[in-house]
Amino acid sequence: MPAPEHIQTPKGTRDFYPEDMRIQNHLFEGWRRVCRAFGYEEYEGPTFEHLELYVGKSGPEIVEQLYHFKDKGDRDLALRPELTPTFARMVNQKGSSLRLPIKWFSIPRLFRYERAQRGRLREFFQLNMDIVGCDTVAAEADLIGAVIEMLKGFGLGSNDFAVRISSRKLLSEFLDRLGVSSEKKAVVYSALDKRAKIGEEAFRKILQEQGIAVGIADSLEGFFQSRTLEDLEAKLQAQSVGLSELRELFSLLGQLGYADYLSLDTSVVRGLAYYTGIVFEVFDKGQNLRAIAGGGRYDSLLSSLGGSSMSAVGFGMGDVVLADLLNGKGLLPAGRQGVDYYLADVSSPDVPRVELLRLAQTLRSKNRSVAYALNGGKLKKQLAEANDQGARKLVFFGSDRAEAGSCEVKDLATGEQSVVKETEL
Ligand code: HAM
Repeated sequence: MPAPEHIQTPKGTRDFYPEDMRIQNHLFEGWRRVCRAFGYEEYEGPTFEHLELYVGKSGPEIVEQLYHFKDKGDRDLALRPELTPTFARMVNQKGSSLRLPIKWFSIPRLFRYERAQRGRLREFFQLNMDIVGCDTVAAEADLIGAVIEMLKGFGLGSNDFAVRISSRKLLSEFLDRLGVSSEKKAVVYSALDKRAKIGEEAFRKILQEQGIAVGIADSLEGFFQSRTLEDLEAKLQAQSVGLSELRELFSLLGQLGYADYLSLDTSVVRGLAYYTGIVFEVFDKGQNLRAIAGGGRYDSLLSSLGGSSMSAVGFGMGDVVLADLLNGKGLLPAGRQGVDYYLADVSSPDVPRVELLRLAQTLRSKNRSVAYALNGGKLKKQLAEANDQGARKLVFFGSDRAEAGSCEVKDLATGEQSVVKETEL
């Protein structure tokens, strides 16, 4: 056992010192602002759930990554690896008392036992935005619009990221045409999600091991090469619901001025088992990071968890890749948040005087942020502390250059010094 002072953070977790929290808050504020602008309401669930909520619903990859344990009552529990099952459970619990459609968002802390790699940690935050009760691509358009506005709000543009859009429904229709059975489809989806990582050869090997004919892998390859809706239409040679939904979505988002941010990418399938329709992932365009966000339509999850049949669409955006990307582009806030006023006592007391504390109290009641030397001390030391704390204005409390009821104030940005009535501070 290492000595307590040598105990490090567990692998894949982070400490958030104040300078790190500033960045987290910047991300969370950017997320929240856009969620509210789009009319989504915030909710939250527990950080652990019954293990069975994930098994069989999220798919094998997530289950392999679960942190699960037995509690003292011998219950099988798991730290949440994603929020969607909790969201579905919460919606089901309220059932018909909810007025549909609902638009909810949350910023949960999630846990996945992942292999340590860039952009993936074992504990991370993830913005979730979800809609229940909208059957048309208006829902997908709302969510993708929000993603784009959010990333634009952080200072990113269409040269920095792209939303890659595809459809499980379309892929499913294509697999039907190739004669792939429903059970085999799940195998194909999970192998496809790994394809970019494991390579074409390993992908083909998985299909082969699962008894899927070689010709099917060839046809799929052709399908993935398609980069336009027209090309896909030619390959399908038939009516396709998946394709017409994609066409509608691209047209809608295009008319909203988002065309430059979108690309049709049929190789996007998503690893999670529950998606049933349009799926999308957001990637950066330069640094080749992992996905910034991913989501899609999951019309059967709520009913498979015991609820009534309700359509749902949503996505998750992690904090890790996003912060990496913004950092690489110099788009993270630098410096401290600072305070509006630092009250320096020119009489250099050992402890702050009550009169100074009262002035702080008054300023705070007017929504100003105020700091002062808790330990008193020499004026020089107080000034250094003001600087350290990123104060915008310095008040020389008790300066004889100001009469009673007034203060000598220095603007630390301009260096300007003036005498101001306390009531006008
Ligand atoms: P996901 O693709 O598993 O989807 O995760 C979405 C995003 O969360 C990823 O694109 C990535 O930014 C971030 N993320 C995932 N795993 C990690 C990790 N280990 N470390 C850091 N970031 C990570 C879901 O979780 C779905 N439940 C999203 C959803 C909501 N679908 C519908 N509604």
